[in-house]
Parts: sequence; C-alpha cells; structure tokens
Amino acid sequence: MSLSFPSDTSDSILFEKKLSRMVHIRPINSVIQKFLRSIEKITIDDLKLIPYKRFICAHEMLSFFGDDFGDRLVSIVNDYNTGCAVIHFGDFGDLSTNIKIATAVSHLLSKPIPEPSGNYYGITTVVHNNEPAFKILDPYNFFSLHTDGIFSDNPVDWIMMMKIEEENAIGGESRLLHMADFDSFEHIYNLKGNAIKFSFGLDAKDRRYDIFSKVSNMEKAYSNILKKTEDRRQIKFVDQFILTESINEAKFINNVQMALESCEAIISEPLPVGSMLILNNSFWVHGRAPFERNLNLRRSLLRQYGYFS
Ligand SMILES: [Fe+2]
Repeated sequence: MSLSFPSDTSDSILFEKKLSRMVHIRPINSVIQKFLRSIEKITIDDLKLIPYKRFICAHEMLSFFGDDFGDRLVSIVNDYNTGCAVIHFGDFGDLSTNIKIATAVSHLLSKPIPEPSGNYYGITTVVHNNEPAFKILDPYNFFSLHTDGIFSDNPVDWIMMMKIEEENAIGGESRLLHMADFDSFEHIYNLKGNAIKFSFGLDAKDRRYDIFSKVSNMEKAYSNILKKTEDRRQIKFVDQFILTESINEAKFINNVQMALESCEAIISEPLPVGSMLILNNSFWVHGRAPFERNLNLRRSLLRQYGYFS
C-alpha cells in the first residue's frame, strides 16, 4: 500500500481510486487554482481572527470541487472499511496556500477543535534535535502508534495531517494501522486488563498541563483501550496520557503497545509534500518512523482535529 498517488491519465475534476483501505483523491490543478483565486482576498490573519471566513473557504471549495465533495469526505471517514482519505493537492511551496486548502477541507468535515496555541490548526516542524522537549519533535526515535484526543471535552473523530514541507528528510514515514488488520485485537480484547476503564489525562504538575489547559477543562476521560461496537473494532490509546495506577495496569498497556508496534499489517509509507491524510481516529492508529540523522533535516506537518456533532 502506498501513500503516493496512483498514476492516472484522468482529467476528471476529482479523480478517486480506492487502494486497499485508503481512498486516494487527486483534484486537478486548474480547479485548485480557480478555488484559490476565489479566496485570494482572504488572508491567513483573517482565517485566524475571523472564524466565519474559514467556512467561506469551505463553501468556495464546494463551488469548484462539487457540492457533494464534503459529504463524500465525511462518508469515507465514517466508512469502517476505509476510514482514510489521502488527498493529493500537489506541492505549492507556499504556507498560506496550504493553510487555505487545509482550512477548506477541515471545515467540510466539521468545525476543528482548537489547538493549545489557541489556533484552529497546528504546524509541527521536526528538525535535527538531540534533546527534544516533546516526543512528537524527536526525529530519531519511533513516534509510537497512538490515537489522538485526551480529555473528556476533546473527543476526536477525525484527524488531518498535511505535509507542507520537507528538506533533507530520509525516513520519517507515516506509520498507520487499521484495527480490522490488528491481528492481536481479539486476544487483547479478551484480556482482563481490557475490562479496566483507564483514565486519560495529565497530573497537574506535569509540564504539559498548562499548555493543554488553554483549550480544555482538563477533566480526565475514562475508557477501555479496545472496544467493539456493531462489529466495529475501536481503540483509544493515547499512550503518553494514560494514567496507570499499578504494575498490572502498566503491564497491560505495555502488552498493547508491543502488539501494536510488532503488527505486520502496519503501513509505513512516506506522505508526499502537498498531500493530506485524513483518518478516522476511533479505528486507525498513527505514528512515525525515525528519520535518518541529518543536521539540516526539516519536515513540517499541518494538523487539525475535529469531531462530528
Ligand atoms: Fe497524533
């Protein structure tokens, strides 16, 4: 399975191809350009400070991509057989263009959840760093498979990651796993540890507490790790934020992590610059492979999260 766009000679506005569990979509460039021209007067400051302009971007995207484009994205994300859209816009090499495109798509899905920065989107730039403050910024180790959404007031149904720049980056592939392909799911589901409702949150003295408290009431969320609903396998595994209370609980979490990380069905593929991954957060886990050491490494992802009301 690849995160690159399958070759095609189609000139349809939105060429779509399902490959295994991923639905690839490639809007043609001329239509993207028309969409961008229609919103050229909207600035990034406008988008940050005037919330309604974000939905105007979404509306304009529908005008050029087709009225059913947003519904199609929502149906892909909610389809248990896929739950994953990869949209290939192309490399514009321009931050504001990428933000406008990502804003339009996210607001076709649902209103995004605010980031700790207070903004509705976040940009994570990974550079060479021997002492990163956060795991997400650590270039040379695996960023372990996990789901997003920690606290009770920020459930996350969908996540979007758009690669907006990459220099001197070898490795760092996206790592993804759909729960239907998780070979240890049934075994772990039936373990005693999976009957525990774990608490997800942060201790008040954790240095990350203040950052998250800007966008959350910090009430812990309680959940089993694996769940099944109408034959859908689901997972909540925000590994950095599970507050275990005993050795037995920690051993169970460790078992889950080892089973996830060693699963042969993990997809490990580079996401092209200018492409966007949208995942259902209840049955896909995501992570990142290590980069090769490079003093000039630089790779940025724009991310947004949201939930369906
Ligand atoms: Fe994440």
